[in-house]
Amino acid sequence: MSSPDIIRQALPPELSGMVRSVRFADGVATIVADAGALGRSAAAQLQKELEQAAAAVPGVTEVRVALMSERVKRRIVAVGSGKGGVGKSTLTANLAVALAKMGRKVGVVDADIYGPSQVMLLDPARGKPRAEGNTLIPVESEFGVKLLSMAQLVEGGKAIAWRGPMVGQALTQMMEADWGDAELLLVDLPPGTGDVQLTMLQKFKPDGALIVTTPQDLALIDATRAIDLFSQAKIPVVGMVENMAGYICPHCGEASDPFGLGGAEAAARALGHEFLGRVPLHMAIRVASDTGQPPAANDGEQGRVFAAIAGRVAQWLDSNKG
Ligand SMILES: Nc1ncnc2c1ncn2[C@@H]1O[C@H](COP(=O)(O)OP(=O)(O)OP(=O)(O)O)[C@@H](O)[C@H]1O
Ligand SMILES: [Mg+2]
Repeated sequence: MSSPDIIRQALPPELSGMVRSVRFADGVATIVADAGALGRSAAAQLQKELEQAAAAVPGVTEVRVALMSERVKRRIVAVGSGKGGVGKSTLTANLAVALAKMGRKVGVVDADIYGPSQVMLLDPARGKPRAEGNTLIPVESEFGVKLLSMAQLVEGGKAIAWRGPMVGQALTQMMEADWGDAELLLVDLPPGTGDVQLTMLQKFKPDGALIVTTPQDLALIDATRAIDLFSQAKIPVVGMVENMAGYICPHCGEASDPFGLGGAEAAARALGHEFLGRVPLHMAIRVASDTGQPPAANDGEQGRVFAAIAGRVAQWLDSNKG
């Protein structure tokens, strides 16, 4: 005759940490396991292994496996700007890496459908996502960040000439992918206030938005427009980051301010938003980014800049649990 203990012993030892309870009555083994930290495919695999192991125990005629999935409450933070080329993608990639270094489980959605850049920034190995049915499984980059980007799904160098509805579908596939244990999705938005932004705001309602700007007046005006878009959709602004602030000469190390200094901080204050930090305009950031080596992965000077901003984002996430 079988018993809960005998069944428990028959289960693969490496799964024992996830098994919460085992019951046995009238030939029916009921196993409750915790699949909270697992993605969909890993949870299905767990279920199969438990079923097979328990079914092999003499006296067991039926196995019922219940998986508890205390779903990871996944937060979404969109990184936006009104103007193009201000460093949204660079900041997204480096923040993701810095947060992962702090132990956070982070995924990056490259929502720039027409001009994706996250593969270059985060995954120099150029992994391809797998698909299970209609569900995409993100690529795990070498920096501990999960990633989905249009660039992984289309041939390199091909122009993407899609209309609005297809763009919405692509974004939805990426947002609804199997992000597994990721607790935070950072979404790298395209510049401006177009279709992708609207789908993002209406359908996926980010928990917060991070606004990137440069110190130029024009970029600041555009940033204000981006903030307005998020405010209208009632998306809280996590804060503003000033990028390309102060030029550091690679030869002599002297700092100068070709676009002025402190504009973004003043604008953030005037608009009642948090100022999260300033990333200097530094050749090393561009060079490292182009070769898929995000400076945030290192503990050097630039790494520390991104780590400080990531710290403030983490603080915001912890104190705004919704
Ligand atoms: N702080 C910085 N110092 C030096 N170069 C930078 C810095 N930030 C970004 N860059 C460089 O500026 C260029 C534009 O940056 P990025 O692609 O991140 O901007 P973006 O806002 O995402 O642009 P787009 O609107 O086209 O998506 C890139 O070549 C990047 O390497
Ligand atoms: Mg970009």
